[in-house]
Amino acid sequence: MSDLKQINPQQLSGNAIQRIGTDWMLVTARKGDQVNTMTAAWGGLGVMWGKPAAFVVIRPQRYTYAFVEASDTFSLTFFDDNFRETLNYLGTVSGRDEDKIKKSKLTLANSQDTPYFTEASQVLICRKLYRQTFDPDCFIDPAIHQQYKEKDYHIHYIAEIIEAYQR
Ligand SMILES: Cc1cc2nc3c(=O)[nH]c(=O)nc-3n(C[C@H](O)[C@H](O)[C@H](O)COP(=O)(O)O)c2cc1C
Repeated sequence: MSDLKQINPQQLSGNAIQRIGTDWMLVTARKGDQVNTMTAAWGGLGVMWGKPAAFVVIRPQRYTYAFVEASDTFSLTFFDDNFRETLNYLGTVSGRDEDKIKKSKLTLANSQDTPYFTEASQVLICRKLYRQTFDPDCFIDPAIHQQYKEKDYHIHYIAEIIEAYQR
């Protein structure tokens, strides 16, 4: 893993609210011999069923959705500020329309079969434990409906963090 060092997920540096919500992350998964990635700014890191866990939400129209569905695992990668433009690009263009990974100039590598990018400052290899499409009947705050004018409710994944790497 280049100069990334494997750590215990408990040793991850940084504040998850900032790392995800402000700095953003990439969600990357494999479907057969193809890989796709997208930027995400919603989600969380924590603990579930006694395991270090990541919480990710993906709208059904994302090309990445089919990739995350097709695989038992996916990666979350975090980057320093120099990659802001790249993350913005990967979050505004779809892999359906362009070879985004090639254009981004990021370098793909694999941990077992799970794709990630070597330029990342942190890499989390995640194994899916749970998926559920948000049910609008369960929204307690009616304002949440505003997020889903197209009724494109996110699919929520809870995944075990099975490997963590950091610079
Ligand atoms: C900062 C930022 C955060 C985003 N967060 C999410 C997210 O958490 N979930 C989601 O489904 N889409 C999110 N998106 C949108 C996808 O990244 C975007 O639609 C992307 O082009 C999908 O690419 P794909 O079609 O190749 O999967 C975000 C976009 C940006 C720019």
